[in-house]
Amino acid sequence: MTNAPGSPSTGTPSDGRDDPGDPGAPSALLAVRGVSKYFGAVQALENVDLDVPAGQVTALIGDNGAGKSTLIKAIAGIYAPSGGQIFWKGHEVHIHTPHDAEALGIATVYQDLALCDNLDIVQNMYLGHESTKAGVLDEISMELATKQTLSDLSVSTVKSVRQVVGSLSGGQRQAIAVARAVMRESQLVIMDEPTAALGVSQTAQVLHLIRTLAQRGMGVIVISHNLNDVFQVADRIAVLYLGNLVSSGPVANYDMSSAVELITTGESVRVASSVAP
Ligand SMILES: Nc1ncnc2c1ncn2[C@@H]1O[C@H](COP(=O)(O)OP(=O)(O)O)[C@@H](O)[C@H]1O
Ligand SMILES: [Mg+2]
Repeated sequence: MTNAPGSPSTGTPSDGRDDPGDPGAPSALLAVRGVSKYFGAVQALENVDLDVPAGQVTALIGDNGAGKSTLIKAIAGIYAPSGGQIFWKGHEVHIHTPHDAEALGIATVYQDLALCDNLDIVQNMYLGHESTKAGVLDEISMELATKQTLSDLSVSTVKSVRQVVGSLSGGQRQAIAVARAVMRESQLVIMDEPTAALGVSQTAQVLHLIRTLAQRGMGVIVISHNLNDVFQVADRIAVLYLGNLVSSGPVANYDMSSAVELITTGESVRVASSVAP
């Protein structure tokens, strides 16, 4: 299952170890090595290895309780791993707080989005990072930068950036949360179930937005339960099963039934190589 050649915990991001048949084993923006996480007696993650390249969308899939949220929270500085290492651009980093993650260029868009419904779009985009000019809020430049970012991301459905966020649709809210990550010049954007609460056309918009991020060279990790979304948007797939990363590789190595098999049993004979990272 997790028995990659050699010891996963001693692999370094530069050793090029990845699935055989994975063309060019992309050099990772983020590399997770041997990460474990215990909550008391519960082992939520066991010796997880994962490579996340820049310019690609990595879909993290797995059943409820598989450890998906725990893994991204370990990367985002919310949970301290019980063991293992995290490498950023080939260097080991210690991410103790969400601020540490943000300082590296890692932005996380959680399911609840952490937007303030009573504030407008510009205010949400700059929450905690307001621009000032001579001691007063620089509303004009914040408004212009917000409009520019939304237009760069082809978010065209928002009528006014002075609309309160509480009046937006689910898809628009997701777009604002992503745009906020982009405006902070993040290099890795992590999204936990971004389409879970969305209808068909809003889902299509958010999937398009996710592709746009990768095209702009960012690394993207997206957690999703919806395998249709995953196969539409992902370049790579990584499968967690009961805290173990049981398979990862280019999306072409998988199909719907092998992905379902891996999610439900942790194994699939149909995937050429089910080794991590
Ligand atoms: N804060 C926590 N305290 C105790 N157990 C937790 C906590 N967060 C997650 N777990 C446990 O860790 C396992 C993985 O959970 P989680 O990462 O939320 O899974 P997923 O996101 O894949 O559904 C589950 O068994 C869950 O009950
Ligand atoms: Mg979760």
